[in-house]
Order: sequence, then structure tokens, then C-alpha cells
Amino acid sequence: MDWGLANRMARMFSPGSQNSVMLAVDHGYFMGPTRRLEDPRATIAPLLPHADALALTRGILRTCVPPSTRTPIVLRVSGGVTVLQEDLSDEDITVSMEDAVRLNVSAVALSVFVGSPHEHSSLVHLSELVDQGEEAGMPVLAITAVGKELEKRDARYLALACRVSAELGAHMVKTYYCDDFEKVVEGCPVPIVVAGGPRLDSDQAALELAHHAIALGAKGIDMGRNIWQSDYPVAMLKALRSIVHEHATVGEAMDILTQEKARPSRATVA
Ligand code: 5RP
Repeated sequence: MDWGLANRMARMFSPGSQNSVMLAVDHGYFMGPTRRLEDPRATIAPLLPHADALALTRGILRTCVPPSTRTPIVLRVSGGVTVLQEDLSDEDITVSMEDAVRLNVSAVALSVFVGSPHEHSSLVHLSELVDQGEEAGMPVLAITAVGKELEKRDARYLALACRVSAELGAHMVKTYYCDDFEKVVEGCPVPIVVAGGPRLDSDQAALELAHHAIALGAKGIDMGRNIWQSDYPVAMLKALRSIVHEHATVGEAMDILTQEKARPSRATVA
């Protein structure tokens, strides 16, 4: 791995645990103003200091994130379709590598749609992006998108999608947690981070998901809705950090969540 690419990778993963807590706020690129992400600036600001990386689009980066931030950026560079379409897989590359470099991001991310009508083009886009990434020293994160068919999220499917992404040169893969998740990890030679998916029944359920994923070999999380749709997003992010970086149990993480919930907000302290 070239020094520049390795350096960008290292920015996102803690030198201690070698894991990463990425905060995903890129949902608007196909879902519009998602609940509790209607005002991205307000959602992002309190969470930004607690994330190891922030995953978003260039429009939200340029308008809602201060350029003084030290938090590494994972830039989504695929898009072109919205939830109004039945088939979400018809994505193209929407950002040039030149602009990603200009934005000084730490990685670029695109969705791959294995098994979907546009499987071929999404995998070719991944390969082309890896060529450009190797040239520019820019890591590429492949996101194994499942479109609207959530039932596809079994280990057989996700192992296939992750392995294909790694074979085509992705430097990291974002996927979903599933039963037999260790089989997904086993077949994928690059780091895997897990998304949370739609909001679960409780904060505890999201902590359990993260705990299982890390215990079975994930190198981190890249989670959105289960953090910022929680009533206590900062507390939730801190509790998740304890799992990802300190191998806290779910019980220990719940204790952190409870303590953090009890903390007065900055507005109250002032
Ligand atoms: C949207 C994405 C999201 O970044 C990813 O799904 C993580 O967010 P969440 O935890 O809310 O699922 O890739 O396409």
C-alpha cells in the first residue's frame, strides 16, 4: 500500500484498538431529509468530536461541516437515484477523484449492488474508482447496498458481496450485520465496518448489534440512524465507542449510556 493511501487509512482507525467508529450522515443523497437529519449541521455538530470519521456527501460537507474539523471524512461518491424509484441500483459515480482530493478527504465510498439489475455497472465503477484511488493515494470503501430488499442480508449474500468488493480492490467494505457474520468476515481480506440499518427497537439493540459485529471480527461501525435517531445521540455514540475501542460488554456500554444521559447538556451547564 502506498504511503499516502496507508496514511489516509490510518487516520480513520484508532492506533490503539485498530478499529473505527464512523458516523454515517449520507442518507439524504437518496432519501432526502431523513428524520432527525433534516438539518444536517445541527445533527452533525455535537457528534463530530466523538467520531473517528464522518461519512457524507460533498454537498453536506461543504455546507454543514467546518473546514477546521480534525475528523477524517469518508466521501460518498456514488448516487443518481432516489427512493422514488423501485430499483435503487442505477447509481453512477457523482464526484471526481480531483474533487475528493481537493476536499482533502480520507476515503471515498460507493455502493455496490450485487445481485441487482445494475450489478455490472456498480462493480465496474468500483474497479475504476480503485484505479483512480491507487493513483491518488485514496482508499476506497465499498458499501454492499441491499436496496429495498432487506431479506437479502444473509451471510451467504453478504459474504459474496464483501468478497467480490475486496477482489475488485476495495480497501474497506461496509456491510450489514447478520446471523453467521463470522463467515462474512472470514471470506473478506480487507477491514469490514458495519452499518446499523433502520432504527432498531431500542438503543440496547443497536449496542448489541455493534458488540456482536466487533466480537466476530468487524473492524468498526459506520452507523447513522441508530445514533442520530436516538433521543441521546452523543451518549449513544460514546457507548458505541466503548464497545468498538475497549471491547466493553453490552452491560458496560449501557452503563455509559445511562451516565451520559444523566449529564446536563452544555446549554444547561452554561
Ligand atoms: C446509506 C448508507 C449509510 O451510510 C449506511 O446505511 C449507514 O447508515 P445506517 O446505520 O443508518 O444504516 O450507506 O446508503
